[in-house]
Amino acid sequence: MSKAIQAVRGMNDLLPEAVDRWRRIEEASRQVLSAYGYREIRLPLVERSELFARSIGALTDIVEKEMYTFEDRSGDSLTLRPEGTAGCVRAGIENGILHNQIQRLWYAGPMFRHERPQKGRYRQFYQIGVEAFGIASADIDAEHILMCARLWKNLGIEGLTLEINSLGTAPIRALYRHELVRYFESRRAHLDEDSLRRLEKNPLRLLDSKNPSMQETIAGAPSLMDHLDVESLTHFTRVSEHLRQAGVAFTINPRLVRGLDYYTRTVFEWTTDRLGAQATVCAGGRYDGLVELLGGKSTPAVGFALGMERLAELLAQQGVVGEDVRPHVYLALLDETAELTGMALAERLRDGGLRVECHCGGGGLKAQLKRADRCGAHFALILGEHEIKTGSVAVKDLRHSHEQTQVSPSELLGYLKQKIGGEKH
Ligand code: HAM
Repeated sequence: MSKAIQAVRGMNDLLPEAVDRWRRIEEASRQVLSAYGYREIRLPLVERSELFARSIGALTDIVEKEMYTFEDRSGDSLTLRPEGTAGCVRAGIENGILHNQIQRLWYAGPMFRHERPQKGRYRQFYQIGVEAFGIASADIDAEHILMCARLWKNLGIEGLTLEINSLGTAPIRALYRHELVRYFESRRAHLDEDSLRRLEKNPLRLLDSKNPSMQETIAGAPSLMDHLDVESLTHFTRVSEHLRQAGVAFTINPRLVRGLDYYTRTVFEWTTDRLGAQATVCAGGRYDGLVELLGGKSTPAVGFALGMERLAELLAQQGVVGEDVRPHVYLALLDETAELTGMALAERLRDGGLRVECHCGGGGLKAQLKRADRCGAHFALILGEHEIKTGSVAVKDLRHSHEQTQVSPSELLGYLKQKIGGEKH
């Protein structure tokens, strides 16, 4: 036997039980998003590499070390999307749906980053992303956060913490960067290797270091909050007011900087202490400069994305199972005549709205009932010589009474629906 081929590291199979849980998240998200007037957009998984370098930033970890980039047969440099915002903006500009318009959009699907895999961090992972274009005021920033809060509530997810910050405008950030470099330069001896590298390339990211020995130095660094321009500060205050008014608890984290360069003003993250190191479940913010940077007319924008794996793990920890899609009925068919009659009977039951799994492949009653049990069906219906002769069907309750009753085919659907409805299946 040849050696079995395994999946690529960091790229997971999702087995049916997990998919059922994921569908809960997907359906709840869809409901919440349409309740706020958002519409789905579907975007390619592959884009031109330069799109990401220009938008996420050439000096970010994602672009420097994590992209799946390849040359296609025409010699073009293409990249598996590491996130959805850049592609969404590209599509918005290309299809002329951004200029002088308000667009509330969402998308879902896989993203690819060549990170070091660990629990909660994968190389193919899934996001649900949300973007709103054309609104400069703080109400839309707050709407996004409120939408998240409603989703957590609808899913029954507890214990998520919201942190917000303002990154100001690009010119303000440039000034602040100067000051930050000055501060850290004078403390080079306290910096670890990673921070020294960040100091050269992307000093704001230094604030994001998780190294415990760096925390004291970071705590003493100048705060961007103290450098904000009046408009950014007013904007930030307004977002906070909206959240307080809506009763959404938050903390201001002046060190929250995010790993993508396109943000301006509001940034936010929802984190949990239940997932270990990969604690951020959902994150986003405002990116007023990106549409113009990618060749469109200047358009304000804000958005966020949630990580499906992390959210699904939280649901699993809370013992939430997916929607019950097990068959209501398993049909055991004991001979060839029963097989013919049984297939037709199964169709009639499905017409009546039941989920029916038909036994295929023959075999004895015992083996068939074992399968019925294993698939989680509520009832086994048995059709054999006796049933065909007497024009009846044997119904065995597999979950509760384990009793067997003969029911006439004309009454069967009503009988089953009543039993199943009575138990709120
Ligand atoms: P991000 O913070 O890079 O933002 O990713 C958003 C979320 O995706 C994270 O909070 C996390 O839950 C999940 N995630 C990221 N990387 C991984 C990974 N390697 N494995 C598992 N989950 C992961 C963005 O992607 C922005 N596009 C969000 C946004 C939309 N900002 C504005 N609009």
